[in-house]
Amino acid sequence: MKNIIEVSNLKKYFGRGDKLVKAVDGISLEIHEKEIFGFLGPNGAGKTTSLRMIIGLLKPDVGEVSIMGNNPYKNGKKLKRELGIIPQSLTFYTDLTVEENLWFLAKIYDLPKDLAKDRIDSLISKVGLDEKRKQLARTLSGGLQRRLNLILGLIHDPSIILCDEPTPGLDPQSRAVVWDFIRDLPNQGKTVILTTHFMEEADRLSDRVAIIDNGKILVLDTPQKLKASIGEGDLVEFTLFRDDQHHLEKISNLLKGYNGIVDSFVSSGRIVIRALDVVPRLSKILNYMESENAVIENMKIRSTTLEDVFINLTGRALRD
Ligand SMILES: Nc1ncnc2c1ncn2[C@@H]1O[C@H](COP(=O)(O)OP(=O)(O)OP(=O)(O)O)[C@@H](O)[C@H]1O
Ligand SMILES: [Mg+2]
Repeated sequence: MKNIIEVSNLKKYFGRGDKLVKAVDGISLEIHEKEIFGFLGPNGAGKTTSLRMIIGLLKPDVGEVSIMGNNPYKNGKKLKRELGIIPQSLTFYTDLTVEENLWFLAKIYDLPKDLAKDRIDSLISKVGLDEKRKQLARTLSGGLQRRLNLILGLIHDPSIILCDEPTPGLDPQSRAVVWDFIRDLPNQGKTVILTTHFMEEADRLSDRVAIIDNGKILVLDTPQKLKASIGEGDLVEFTLFRDDQHHLEKISNLLKGYNGIVDSFVSSGRIVIRALDVVPRLSKILNYMESENAVIENMKIRSTTLEDVFINLTGRALRD
């Protein structure tokens, strides 16, 4: 596997004294050619700051970046055509139409007219904006604006695409369009770096994921391996009628010792157990809980998610 980006010991601190924020605190990684690499972490974890340093928009305090053998702080110009940036905030001209926004960028990149036209048509159609192409950007719904934001970063056909939180607050349909679009990029020979605090997005799209928190990479691997790393078995979540923390903790601790239960903990007002062969054991587990005065309001069986991996590493949920 060829490395297209190499990052070593990148650090960026903001402020000083009491107000010192270690936004990025020593990250090292390699991005392989034609992979989708995900940064998954909660708000303020350092995802955007990492991305901005990797592409040369922000100078690190410490550390090195190499993109296709180039230093982005020295050879930024050479890399400009290779990098496609899809920022977290929407960045288009609201008083231009969908296609005018694309034409504007095509001119900035000095693309020949015929080539630009083909690319614009193809990008518009890939994200389902055909019928909206002559509509002012500001009159598009939030979901369609996100789709426009996505394709604007690709007009110059870059080989590396950096996608900062592509789907915040999107409706399921727009999210599916954006996910399909990103998932297909490696098939076109492109490498993608994605940041998200949405575990399902990281899981579905990424070939490898770095889980980042407080400016540090906690783990880095394929989603499958990360999920397998926290243990075998399925998870069962219980909501109880009596859901004060003390009671939940008490029941959870009792369950820890029960036959077949590998782990039990309280998260966001629910008891979560991990158990092997959970279905055949379920009725016994339920009887046991009842005998311990736990009245079950609701129950859900599910497989491990990257959220569980994050909770396992930090003791916190990604979103609360
Ligand atoms: N220019 C800046 N000046 C001061 N502090 C900053 C600056 N940029 C980022 N930070 C701080 O650095 C930390 C990391 O921010 P960053 O934007 O990289 O996080 P993030 O993981 O992208 O979060 P989000 O999910 O909210 O986008 C935060 O505490 C943020 O407040
Ligand atoms: Mg961010």
